[in-house]
Amino acid sequence: MKVFRTISEMQSYSKSLHKDGKTIGFVPTMGYLHKGHLSLVKKAKEQTDAVVVSIFVNPTQFEPGSDLNRYPRDEKGDIDKLESNGVSAVFIPTVKEMYPEGYQTYVEVTELTKNLCGRFRPGHFKGVTTVVLKLFNIVQPDKAYFGKKDYQQFRVIERMCRDLNINVQIVPCPIVREKDGLAMSSRNIYLSKEERKDATIIHRAIEKGKKMILENERDAKKVIETMEKMIREKKTLKKIDYISIVDLHTLKDVSFIDSDVLIAVAAYFGSARLIDNAEVILNADYDA
Ligand code: PAJ
Repeated sequence: MKVFRTISEMQSYSKSLHKDGKTIGFVPTMGYLHKGHLSLVKKAKEQTDAVVVSIFVNPTQFEPGSDLNRYPRDEKGDIDKLESNGVSAVFIPTVKEMYPEGYQTYVEVTELTKNLCGRFRPGHFKGVTTVVLKLFNIVQPDKAYFGKKDYQQFRVIERMCRDLNINVQIVPCPIVREKDGLAMSSRNIYLSKEERKDATIIHRAIEKGKKMILENERDAKKVIETMEKMIREKKTLKKIDYISIVDLHTLKDVSFIDSDVLIAVAAYFGSARLIDNAEVILNADYDA
């Protein structure tokens, strides 16, 4: 597996792959890799000839006062994991390499970023779209893989590619969970034992909400109230940013549920901001 730290090395490697007629599957990450990240790598391996992973803790997507300075890092462990998962190259640039002095260009998706995490993390998605577009220009992938754990991020990137005619196919991938249902996240490391236990309520509340909708509850407010009650019972809950039921495509709030929706939650347990969600597809076979 190749390890590149400069943009020019990464770009020439991608060029050479394309020259040999190979397709590139790309998995952008911020490192501290877990099985959720590796599931994207596996999917990319199935669908493309060469998999490239980036590890870059992108400062422009951390709003002031968030966890940039304590975001967990384990470069050596990450490289080992990627190597044993058959990755062709990993791109690990420095902040200076990505944002040299004088940097001043940003990309913004305006509507899809207004609700959910965009409401609570101003500037976050502007940082995400900017770095992802830069990474696409550097890695030149044919397909790029995003987890539905960050559902809004996936929709925002999908929209950016459509709007800016970026020739990269965005492939959404299912959420990978711990045995007890907690969505895997690099940020789970921040949780104390008690917080970790309490945090499993997020998934259970979402599943309860999903069940209510599939059993024909159509009033979003009632579903949200039931979920909120479950989550508020947990002692280590610090704050709920949102419990929302939104249209699957526009991500706008829905009050009467008569089409496919996303149930999405963002809440703090201790100092860890956790997000999770589930798609609710109406009229699908119940077992599907
Ligand atoms: P990061 O949080 O490291 O996540 C990298 C990718 O892994 C994202 O597509 C995310 O949705 C996916 N992922 C994380 N946890 C997952 C889980 N439990 N199941 C499935 N997929 C999961 O998201 C980012 O980094 C950054 O914003 C980035 C896109 C790299 C831009 O900086």
